[in-house]
Amino acid sequence: MTQNNLKGIVLAGGNGTRLAPLTNSLSKHLLPVYDKPMIYYPLSTLMLMGIKDILLITTKKDQLLFKNLLGTGENFGIKISYEVQEEPKGIAHAFILAETFIGDSKVVLILGDNIFYGHDLINQLVCSAAKDCDATIFAYRVQDPSRFGIINLNKDNLPTHIEEKPKSPKSDFAITGMYIYQNNVVEYAKKLTPSDRGELEISDLNNIYMEQNKLNVEILGRGIAWLDTGTFESLQDASFFIKTLEMRQGLKIGCPEEIAWRLNYINNKKFRDIVKKYVNSPYGNYLKKILRESK
Ligand code: TTP
Repeated sequence: MTQNNLKGIVLAGGNGTRLAPLTNSLSKHLLPVYDKPMIYYPLSTLMLMGIKDILLITTKKDQLLFKNLLGTGENFGIKISYEVQEEPKGIAHAFILAETFIGDSKVVLILGDNIFYGHDLINQLVCSAAKDCDATIFAYRVQDPSRFGIINLNKDNLPTHIEEKPKSPKSDFAITGMYIYQNNVVEYAKKLTPSDRGELEISDLNNIYMEQNKLNVEILGRGIAWLDTGTFESLQDASFFIKTLEMRQGLKIGCPEEIAWRLNYINNKKFRDIVKKYVNSPYGNYLKKILRESK
């Protein structure tokens, strides 16, 4: 189910100021969410969607650390390219940086600190990506909408209004950190002007599509978990969430080696070679166990 015409971007720059001092010397995307680096989760989501060509955007100072961790993507049977975002100039800025990478493809952008999990999620994402739409965003009901970009929907579930962190939100639907666009996104991103906080806002970009009736909004239902991990509390909550599910089932969430192997991105020999390199960690023991069980 490889998506040849679909490329992926993981946006993992930013300063992570809310997590200081943890982020004083290290990107938050390399911090652990339970038993693996945060970046594994959004990367896994793209891989599960069948995307094998992925651009990772990071700050300049962190790029080498990501390269040490992920390399060319060979161990995951994918191709990872790297791009630098010197300053946090906004989520929409990513599309300008990624112009050459995007070329004439459709593209999925996922924020590096977003975790998506749940029943039938991947099927919903893949079906959404296959729709003949210029832009697709994913809305999720939240308890505290004023913390997020919010989308108002009319009774036919069509978008009517987008607001960034509204003081008096008119809707409980937050816009999650995953967006799918046709390659015209580059052209639209270039037309944006920075907001008061100096960023090219993803909400402004989505507004352009909405005004042209080209914004498709998919609702992620209550069977799906959407977590972001940008504060101490949410980071801790995400770790407990992953731990609880993994301990209960004995299966890992967001394990790129496993995904690569199960989706045949890598063959048995390659997987065995990777597994051998883990000497003594429970993560490696897990990989050994699933390899043994497949025999
Ligand atoms: P934010 O949480 O808005 O910003 P941040 O990660 O720098 O954290 P803080 O608010 O604590 O300073 O970013 C959400 C995600 O998007 C996160 O994974 C970083 C990424 N991002 C960029 O890579 N570049 C950007 O210009 C922005 C705005 C965000």
